[in-house]
Amino acid sequence: MAKIVGGLTTSHIPAIGNAMSQKLEKDPYWKRFFDGYEPVKAWLDEVKPDIAIVVYNDHGLNFFLNQVPTFAIGCADQYENADEGWGLKTLSSFKGDAQFSWHLAESLINSDFDMATCQEMLVDHGLVVPMALMWRHLDEWPVKVVPLAVNTVQHPLPGARRCFALGKALRQAIESYPEDLKVVIFGTGGLSHQLQGERAGILDTDFDLQCMEKIIHDPEWLTQLSNTEIMEKAGTEGIEVIMWMVMRGALQPEVKVVHKHYHAPISNTGAGVLVLENTNDS
Ligand code: DHB
Ligand code: FE
Repeated sequence: MAKIVGGLTTSHIPAIGNAMSQKLEKDPYWKRFFDGYEPVKAWLDEVKPDIAIVVYNDHGLNFFLNQVPTFAIGCADQYENADEGWGLKTLSSFKGDAQFSWHLAESLINSDFDMATCQEMLVDHGLVVPMALMWRHLDEWPVKVVPLAVNTVQHPLPGARRCFALGKALRQAIESYPEDLKVVIFGTGGLSHQLQGERAGILDTDFDLQCMEKIIHDPEWLTQLSNTEIMEKAGTEGIEVIMWMVMRGALQPEVKVVHKHYHAPISNTGAGVLVLENTNDS
């Protein structure tokens, strides 16, 4: 049976990708941010997952505004990335597991989450930056990937409550897969940031830290907030935090905190990192 070994959260800010290609990890601006990932890398090295389900949002590379699914899942054996205009280098392709993906899609659809299924999918910085943060030190990606895209770009967006429920259905989907696979779930994006309009550049560290605490110990709290309330605090792009709720929903109600780190700002954004494990095996 497939097993969830844990969940983690990370921002996906494109500037991080460029800092990694330019090897700026020890630069004063970046050092504290990158130091926050060393325990995550050590944990991944220890638990050795076979597959990462990366919950991310596409920012216009694969889905443009003419067609935006609310929830989409990659069902391919390979995913490429491509130049999306942030100056990011394209990295080597990611191996997928189409059979596992189709199982997840079927189970999620049976649980009333009508996923779009993508047999071709270009993955953008929302997925690539988190993958590189974890594993750029290796010659090849050590895990297969299932991209799970959530619309955080074109309104109407799904809410935190719906994303949390998707996570619960995802757990059932994973745990009903007969093959022995160790699965890690990435909740990516956030935390507070706004890249556009009059409030561009706003950031709310207190709200970010509150979100991190609540997502660990009381995730239902976020399900009570509307998207408007989240965006008032966290900025229009701060709504990306709903993707952390998918990861959290897939874990048990009580979790163990393996690692927690926060650094702001990176570019325009509050960057939060969590590594969470289930507290028991059931
Ligand atoms: C930034 C953050 C994002 O989440 C993103 O998708 C693009 C840019 C930023 O802070 O620069
Ligand atoms: Fe983003």
